[in-house]
Amino acid sequence: MKKILITGGLGYIGSHTVVALLDAGYQAIVVDNLSNSDKEVLNRIKELTGKQVSFYQVDIRDRAGLNHVFRKETCDCVIHFAGLKSLEESIYKPWEYYDNNVGGTLTLIDVMREYGCKNMIFSSSAAVYGTPEQLPITEECPKGERMNPYAQTKSMQEQILMDIQKADPDWNVVLLRYFNPIGAHKSGLLGEDPQGIPNNLLPYITQVAIGKLPYLKIFGNDYDTPDGTGIRDYIHVLDLANGHLKALSRIQANCGCEVFNLGTGTGYSVLEMVHYFEQACGKKIPYQIEPRRLGDVAACFADPSKAKRLLGWEAQNGVLEMCKDAWRWQNKNPNGYKK
Ligand code: NAD
Ligand code: UD1
Repeated sequence: MKKILITGGLGYIGSHTVVALLDAGYQAIVVDNLSNSDKEVLNRIKELTGKQVSFYQVDIRDRAGLNHVFRKETCDCVIHFAGLKSLEESIYKPWEYYDNNVGGTLTLIDVMREYGCKNMIFSSSAAVYGTPEQLPITEECPKGERMNPYAQTKSMQEQILMDIQKADPDWNVVLLRYFNPIGAHKSGLLGEDPQGIPNNLLPYITQVAIGKLPYLKIFGNDYDTPDGTGIRDYIHVLDLANGHLKALSRIQANCGCEVFNLGTGTGYSVLEMVHYFEQACGKKIPYQIEPRRLGDVAACFADPSKAKRLLGWEAQNGVLEMCKDAWRWQNKNPNGYKK
């Protein structure tokens, strides 16, 4: 297995994974419609690896475009990152989320099977657990009521892939449920570049630290947690990227269909994250307590032992390291990839 097609490969997690793949000797074919990324990422990848990726600006809903890619490139496996990911936006734009995430995945799968490529690693999310029935969350934890269309699309995409694999055992599918990816490449050349005002905690904090936003709004301090603020399992994007390499080995071993949590197993509260970030950047992060955010759960953290046991994967970076790397990226690239 040499040639890997990466959908959404210029995005936040995709770009770090492309670098990890190239460093490990794989060939990378990237398909991205640039709806939430920038072509500058290609230059950064080249600078970091000394290697070129084949890039196609194609939307995964565009069957003719995908046909063209698969005709030109014989791919052994697809790592499927492409999709819309804002939980809040999905509440206001459900059609766009179902169309892009579910519709796009259906078209992609159909073209893949037409060209005999039946190996996929899929970016799922801890959001499929809804309000978790147990903590830490194991893969056996039932999927709860999904709180928003985004989570619903992830759950539906998982189900589609499970059913496809069941009907045709030639398929190998690894579903990776990410917890909360943060951090950036150690070089400061790759990182998260949200458009507009960030939704997620870390990009918001980094923009407060650099002076683009006046203060952090902490959504609720009345949760049933030790300090009242929400608890999450933050995981370094480089550890996540490495998880995809391990999943590739599993695909190579004809694993059938498997699900893995990718998290560290440790949860941190919003206030703890503020304090770690202050330590990382040497500045005070002003904040105000606001009402709870719609759709938020109190606490969400993984039991990552299945990934350790079967993938031989374990997160390496601690939370201070994650904050330091996020800060380096923001500091070096105050306007993200835009000059
Ligand atoms: P991202 O937005 O940075 O990357 C997604 C990439 O896909 C972007 O480059 C975008 O341009 C591209 N894209 C979107 N729709 C497309 C389409 N129809 N055709 C082709 N390209 C398209 O997001 P990310 O943080 O790197 O997330 C990657 C994947 O992981 C997503 O599927 C997301 O839902 C999932 N995920 C992310 C998180 C997170 O917090 N970042 C957590 C859990 C799961
Ligand atoms: C959620 C999903 C995750 C999904 C991601 C994409 C769950 C459990 N997780 O992450 O799977 O991929 O969205 O967007 O559903 N917070 C603030 N102020 C802010 C921003 C956030 O206080 O400005 C708090 C939140 O209330 C939460 C924590 O910080 O307690 C983390 O929030 P965020 O970074 O948005 O991630 P999730 O909502 O956990």
